[in-house]
Amino acid sequence: MGFCSNGREESEMYHAQIHLYKHVYNFVSSMALKSAMELGVADAIHSHGEAMTVSELASALKLHPSKVSVLHRFMRLLTHNGFFAKTTVASRKEGGGGGEETVYDLTPPSKLLIRSKSTCLAPIVKGALHSSSIDMWHSSKKWFTEDEKELSLYESAKGEKAMAADSGMLKIALEECKHVFEGLGSLVDVGGGTGTLTRLINELFPHMKCTVFDQPQVVANMTGTENLNFIGGDIFKSIPSADAVLLKWVLHDWNDELSVKILKNCKEAISGKGKEGKVIIIDIAIDETSDDRELTELKMDYDLVMLTMFNGKERDRKEWEKIIYDAGFSSYDITPICGFKSLIQLYP
Ligand SMILES: C[S@@+](CC[C@H](N)C(=O)[O-])C[C@H]1O[C@@H](n2cnc3c(N)ncnc32)[C@H](O)[C@@H]1O
Repeated sequence: MGFCSNGREESEMYHAQIHLYKHVYNFVSSMALKSAMELGVADAIHSHGEAMTVSELASALKLHPSKVSVLHRFMRLLTHNGFFAKTTVASRKEGGGGGEETVYDLTPPSKLLIRSKSTCLAPIVKGALHSSSIDMWHSSKKWFTEDEKELSLYESAKGEKAMAADSGMLKIALEECKHVFEGLGSLVDVGGGTGTLTRLINELFPHMKCTVFDQPQVVANMTGTENLNFIGGDIFKSIPSADAVLLKWVLHDWNDELSVKILKNCKEAISGKGKEGKVIIIDIAIDETSDDRELTELKMDYDLVMLTMFNGKERDRKEWEKIIYDAGFSSYDITPICGFKSLIQLYP
């Protein structure tokens, strides 16, 4: 059979070519986003208070005059990818002579890059696309063929900042799942970092005794309040007792065996509350049946990020169920929250 012998084969091959090229060059879209974040394009439009032309943007960003046309090409891709919205308006230049100009405005995704907002995700873009996060992929073949556990080590300081940024987004989501915390007298946020999320919970429930439990060096200089306490320790040894344990973005850092160990310690920590105690997990649950393609791709991307950074994993329902029951819990429920995460509640 000849190569491209009929129309169907040709069209299939062209589609295959587009599919392959698109996946090869996906990194360009990621990197263009990183450039926009580093330049502060969203901040410039936000400060300006209205949509801007590329020339106005270039001047606000203090770009070299030779780069105006380059910025135009970056904006074209970023607009195509949904980060900016382009409209044509009557020229606002003096003596515009009835001409038109193209202006770029923010969209919901680029609003998440505005640094002055509490929902800013710029640290996530910075951390995820940092050269150290990307370089390790160049040694993946060697890693596959050898018995090395991790491709690279997590830079905890950078990770911590990115995590805190993400917890800021949770303020909105907390309203969504406020009921989960209602009636609890005490809560320990295991692997709670510098307490961004716990502080938000404490604001909503000022009478709840909240503890942030993390590695001693992470909480060493943290100052608590009457109902917010920081304790240093090791999740593999023991966890302070409370009515409920919260684990946000902790279990995806660990393989199944270590996750079961953590969950057993969590179960022990809530044992004083009998059947009323619970463990609240905020993490990813892969669900190819209910989620659309884009969401599943994001979750599976995260899975490989966790694998390469920590030898961790994102789990589907079956995988969650296995570690939950192996740790001795009797039941659980999973509800999607915050766009791509899930709320998983475990009962003793
Ligand atoms: C991915 S971060 C999640 C931080 C926080 N829950 C959030 O979502 O912003 C994982 C946290 O687990 C903590 N951690 C790692 N190993 C630990 C251990 N052995 N004992 C206590 N905390 C640990 C890290 O210091 C880090 O703060």
